[in-house]
Amino acid sequence: MSPFSSVSNETQSRRTTFSKFIIEEEARTGSDPSLTALLNDVQTACKFIALAVSRGALHSTAGIGTDVNVQGETQKPLDVIANNIMLDECARGGTLCGMVSEELPEPSPIPESYRHGRYLLVFDPLDGSSNLDVNVTVGTIFSVLLAGEGVTEPEAADFLQPGNRQIAAGFALYGPSSMIVLTLGHGVHGFTLDREIGAYTLTHPDMKIPTSTREFAINASNERFWEPPVRHYVDECVRGKTGPRGEDFNMRWVASMVAEVYRILVRGGLFMYPRDTKDPGKPGRLRLLYEASPMAMIVEQAGGLATTGRERLLDVEPTSLHQRVPVILGSSEEVERLTKYHAAYDRGEDLEFESPLFNVRSMFRSTAGS
Ligand code: F6P
Ligand code: MN
Repeated sequence: MSPFSSVSNETQSRRTTFSKFIIEEEARTGSDPSLTALLNDVQTACKFIALAVSRGALHSTAGIGTDVNVQGETQKPLDVIANNIMLDECARGGTLCGMVSEELPEPSPIPESYRHGRYLLVFDPLDGSSNLDVNVTVGTIFSVLLAGEGVTEPEAADFLQPGNRQIAAGFALYGPSSMIVLTLGHGVHGFTLDREIGAYTLTHPDMKIPTSTREFAINASNERFWEPPVRHYVDECVRGKTGPRGEDFNMRWVASMVAEVYRILVRGGLFMYPRDTKDPGKPGRLRLLYEASPMAMIVEQAGGLATTGRERLLDVEPTSLHQRVPVILGSSEEVERLTKYHAAYDRGEDLEFESPLFNVRSMFRSTAGS
């Protein structure tokens, strides 16, 4: 028995690995063996990325990136490495006919020399990568779609499918432990990488988000750009026990969506990157196809809710590959409350938080004027 293990080898061998899980799911649901093969390729890619990320500053190419990606964001060497691992590992399995990545302006075709399949893979190879230099959890987000009938060389339009058509979605976490969280549309399951046997192992079956929470996450430095319904919600939270909610709230901001969503899966919470007026050309920060849609599927499958504030995220019809969208997701009671605040505001009610007077009791001056 390993000094680090609390269970015997015999018990360990009965554990469900990620590979075993997806094979059993295929048998149970009659799903396509090609989907199983694709998910197997994704887990292999995640193992390689986990290894590269865990080497941190020891990695020969680690350091501050200077290139800029299609989003206008600084590209770190590990962003590029993770992107290449995903492209290379997933192209060769014969399951895909195209891929879209946050790091590439256009869809990536499957080379002629490889067999082509019916699936489309959309991914953010290294979410939260601004956290790499500071050794905080990052991850890979992925979404699996079906190509339309007869499509063998998909164009951008073939990827523009609403999240409710996802066949599978998941994310890998590269943190204190490496994990994969997966949904195939029948609940959400978490697997932890056991480095001793080199396999992701089912450690969090059927994850459920608590319906109520007293914890929220938002980048509060954008407060002055928020819409009134979001100001209203956050104002009530930070006023705590003596405010209208009558309870103290806790706030978190990791600046890695993967880490925030994982926290919410484990203990509930609300995550917001809402519409703001910071840059009128961008209706939000997060990308629909490879951040919002897969996370929305996972959150809903775990019993939570995911919305733009005005529309269910899974029903948003994409119009471009790298489109951004407002995101509010997590524990259902809080998402419902914030959705109601949006609706009231849009009906012309609840205008108090539009007023410049709101500033006298903003988050950082919550006692004055309240
Ligand atoms: O990919 C976008 C992302 O890095 C998310 O992972 C994270 O939630 C957010 O951006 C962080 O945004 P900000 O830099 O405003 O804190
Ligand atoms: Mn990202």
